[in-house]
Amino acid sequence: MRPAPLGGTPGISTIAPEEVEAFLAAVELAYAGRLPPDELRTVGTLLDSERCLVVREGGAIVATAGSYRLRCTLPWGKAAEVAGISFVGVHPVHRRRGLLRLLLVHQLQALGAEGFPFALLTASEGGIYGRFGFGVTTWWATYRVRRDRVGEAPRETSSAWRLEHAWPEEVAEGLRAVYRAACTTVPGGATRPELEWHDYLADPPRQREGSSALNALVAVDARAEMAGYALYRLHDVGQGPSSAHRVDVVDLQAPEPGAASLLWRHLARMDLADEVLAPLRSLDEPLRLLFPDPRAVETLAVRDGAWLRILDVRGALAARGYGVDGGAVLEVVDPLLPANRGCWSLEVRAGRGHCERVRDAQPAVRLGIDALGAAYLGGTDLGHLARAGLVEEVVPGGVARTAELLRAERTPWLTTTF
Ligand SMILES: CC(C)(COP(=O)(O)OP(=O)(O)OC[C@H]1O[C@@H](n2cnc3c(N)ncnc32)[C@H](O)[C@@H]1OP(=O)(O)O)[C@@H](O)C(=O)NCCC(=O)NCCS
Repeated sequence: MRPAPLGGTPGISTIAPEEVEAFLAAVELAYAGRLPPDELRTVGTLLDSERCLVVREGGAIVATAGSYRLRCTLPWGKAAEVAGISFVGVHPVHRRRGLLRLLLVHQLQALGAEGFPFALLTASEGGIYGRFGFGVTTWWATYRVRRDRVGEAPRETSSAWRLEHAWPEEVAEGLRAVYRAACTTVPGGATRPELEWHDYLADPPRQREGSSALNALVAVDARAEMAGYALYRLHDVGQGPSSAHRVDVVDLQAPEPGAASLLWRHLARMDLADEVLAPLRSLDEPLRLLFPDPRAVETLAVRDGAWLRILDVRGALAARGYGVDGGAVLEVVDPLLPANRGCWSLEVRAGRGHCERVRDAQPAVRLGIDALGAAYLGGTDLGHLARAGLVEEVVPGGVARTAELLRAERTPWLTTTF
């Protein structure tokens, strides 16, 4: 049975459980892709139909959006259940008629009503989501490590870990456990949906794009417990008769920095390969410091990682932790969600934030909901946003005082795609 439209908004509805395959096919089509029927069936079992929204025309799905419930690590040892928006797509011949706007505005209101303090997403293109109040809250770096500069492998006299090779599906539970621990060590770390794990563990050939199968390098401790892992492929970049390979790092997680270093050092000196390419990494990955020659590592690109949309200013500011005590009043501008608009007093005592709406107070800063989203995890300094004209200082010193409050203990990093 086809579900009724939601909330009186014409055309928008959730999907019935038997429609998950049609939903996934519509999402794939938005990317010009086509999943084989058996894969649609398998992936469909991992999808929660109640979290999938669509617009239909003439009975066919023409626009899609979905969300996950994710647990996200927040600054100073806190965490929250947040919404991870995904599966956003509009049929190729139905674009620029406002379908994304219709779906997304509805979805943001619904996620706010569900109690999520904020929503996260990763964007296919950088120009889409700012207009909906999302700000870039974490960034991803792509690193290149040059084998000709990393030098000889140091003789490991003693190490708490030893390295082993495995196929990902053989060590699936260990990978999941390491990931669960690793994503709590950094603000922006988020639980990884089962559907993402499926792509790593099933490693369908369509994902390989001319590379090898996905390999796992795991660091195990003296009790044979997995302490870290790297998932990688070998990619043939040779032309003609020359043989040249690159190690493509798909994922590397290790809660213990020592285990991460061991994995990186091994990848950097892998036989057959001239270089390592590692996208989607943290900006403060200490990679450059692992080799005697810091020029062994180049940052090839920095791009937006997590876009964050605050749905509930009070709830969001109270959910994260703080490194210093103090207070500031923030005037928030939000064209889309009226409940966020106005002045909010943030008071921090013993690392806990209390946030209340205030009416007669002089704000320290005035900022859009997108700028607050960008600063929320502490990765984008408020002063930086102010210098870009995205935060207005209302009282002298207001930017510095508010920036000090919003700082995080560590550069945030979104640890997964979703
Ligand atoms: C991106 C996509 C979802 C947009 O859907 P759409 O229905 O054409 O978007 P709308 O007509 O509702 O446009 C809403 C606004 O976003 C803007 N916009 C839409 N796509 C954009 C793009 N790719 N880059 C910049 N702005 C974009 C529109 O100009 C419009 O602006 P305005 O309302 O401020 O005037 C659609 O083009 C698509 O499916 N693309 C391929 C898959 C994809 O990239 N999905 C997003 C995954 S994160």
